[in-house]
Amino acid sequence: MILNINALSKRYGNTPVLENVNLAVEKGSVAVLVGSSGGGKSTLLRCINGLETFDSGSIEICGHELTAGTHASNVLVKLRRDVGMVFQHFNLFPHLSALENVAMAPRLVEQLSEEEAFQRASSLLDKVGLAAHVLAKPATLSGGQQQRVAIARSLAMRPRVMLFDEPTSALDPEMTAGIVDLIVDLAASGQTMVIVSHDRDFSRIVDARVFVIEKGCVARCGSPAEIFSERSTRNIRSVQYP
Ligand SMILES: Nc1ncnc2c1ncn2[C@@H]1O[C@H](COP(=O)(O)OP(=O)(O)OP(=O)(O)O)[C@@H](O)[C@H]1O
Ligand SMILES: [Mg+2]
Repeated sequence: MILNINALSKRYGNTPVLENVNLAVEKGSVAVLVGSSGGGKSTLLRCINGLETFDSGSIEICGHELTAGTHASNVLVKLRRDVGMVFQHFNLFPHLSALENVAMAPRLVEQLSEEEAFQRASSLLDKVGLAAHVLAKPATLSGGQQQRVAIARSLAMRPRVMLFDEPTSALDPEMTAGIVDLIVDLAASGQTMVIVSHDRDFSRIVDARVFVIEKGCVARCGSPAEIFSERSTRNIRSVQYP
């Protein structure tokens, strides 16, 4: 297993947010996290890459171990080289071009030369369909294009695991479809991913394991077909019998 979450619990003050979460992801596979708002999905994702601390349990990811309490900075530095994260609102550097956004981490962290970093960045921008926009600043790109830059930026560090927090929820349906296609292609190429999303289109990743997170716990898990069809049936019922 490339990711193993054992009995993870976290509270904010007196409020439990995650309670005894157990979840494992195999190398090369995809986990999709769904569930009602406030259930703890984003918090769980942030715990996985050490952006949040937790109160008990442990997380092992790419051979790095996180335990309760404050994380040592040398562990976080190593972990973040192996784990990439893409957010709902892209979080690009506004003053840098697409190319510079993608090249920044390889230059700073891997200390590639400018030429090498730009080469890697431009081939990734090509891969995500942005060859014509390498010099564009984020503000001149559409939401879908900005999300492509953010994905390329994360891929630039060649992460062993990619985490996505609602990567399509700020996008209109057409742009959503493009980003889903891109992520489905990444899955097919063997990229390990944990994706928080309500988008049923991710059920196209047929081998994915879907985890339903409710009130801080893993309520159910199953294949996309099992979980998404069960959820749609429930939604119809709740409309008919409010
Ligand atoms: N920094 C914080 N301080 C206090 N409470 C927080 C903080 N961040 C999140 N919470 C609370 O933790 C719970 C889980 O939040 P989280 O953002 O993980 O949910 P989510 O499942 O991602 O929801 P959504 O689908 O709306 O994004 C919520 O009740 C939220 O109010
Ligand atoms: Mg969230």
